Amino acid sequence: MKRFSFLVLVILLLTSCAARNSRSSNEEKKQYVIGFSQIGAESSWRERNTESVLEAGKKANYKILYENANQSQTEQIKDLRSFIASRVDLIILTPIVETGWKHVLEEAADANIPVVINDRLISKEDSHLYKTFVGPDVPIQGIQTADFLKKKYKDVQEPINIVEIQGSKDASPAISRHDGLVEGLKDDPRFHLVASVHGDFMLSKGREAIKNVTKSHDLKQVDVIYCHNDDMADGVVSYLEETDIKPGKDITICSVDGQQSAIDLLKAGKINCVIECDPNMGEKLFEVVTAVLEGKSIPKENYTTGRVFSEYSDLTKIDKRGY
Ligand code: AHR
Repeated sequence: MKRFSFLVLVILLLTSCAARNSRSSNEEKKQYVIGFSQIGAESSWRERNTESVLEAGKKANYKILYENANQSQTEQIKDLRSFIASRVDLIILTPIVETGWKHVLEEAADANIPVVINDRLISKEDSHLYKTFVGPDVPIQGIQTADFLKKKYKDVQEPINIVEIQGSKDASPAISRHDGLVEGLKDDPRFHLVASVHGDFMLSKGREAIKNVTKSHDLKQVDVIYCHNDDMADGVVSYLEETDIKPGKDITICSVDGQQSAIDLLKAGKINCVIECDPNMGEKLFEVVTAVLEGKSIPKENYTTGRVFSEYSDLTKIDKRGY
């Protein structure tokens, strides 16, 4: 009888150990749920950025709740609140504009949900409300454009007039691409920013923006058009092609992103300089997300890199862009 009870005890102990082991291996395999709030689909760049994030999230075995706010901050805030209500493990936010996030990010902090910022930044005074940022070092893009212009106009003595087609108002890349250019040209009094208008990072709006500029400025007096992204540069080039002004020859066109359409226009001599801004940030983003979820310490800024493609580059060496 005693021997029988001992046997039962051993069996019970073994079963409970096995149950505990299988529970802990299930816990190890817990699939984290990530809320991803994207701005919209304003440009080819943005579409590729969304794909890159979703592909990398899937590859890293995260469950992604994806929301696309269609260019509306109000929608993005609603999306963030629905992620908080669903008690996701982490939020990835691509903020459409720099300001207006304080309250909703405080709500995420109160719910103990860490936030990682993708691509665009929010204002410095709210930077304690997110863990880390993954994206480009945008002011550098404006400075690289300024360097290209200084090289191109090195032998010119006369004033050089620049029209700027900015991205969306209050968006961090619009602010920083502007500031970067101004900073890069500040020591060269030949350059004059004669007009600066918004084109919302969209092809149709870029076209509309340059058309509007012609109401107050004679484009024959303009030397450079600096577009904050390639889709708007496409719009500007298509507009100029309907006039007797040759883009890339009569007016220097500078752009940012590095998408295939802009590289093709660069090769055709219709754009003069394209600063690369790589939308493929998904993999780096999820390395950072994993580090946050594992409680590891990570830098506050995780910058992606970008090259300069211009009329001075060997254009035969540019890889297929994929966006
Ligand atoms: O925030 C990055 C910018 O947003 C890209 O340069 C532009 O194409 C996009 O829409």
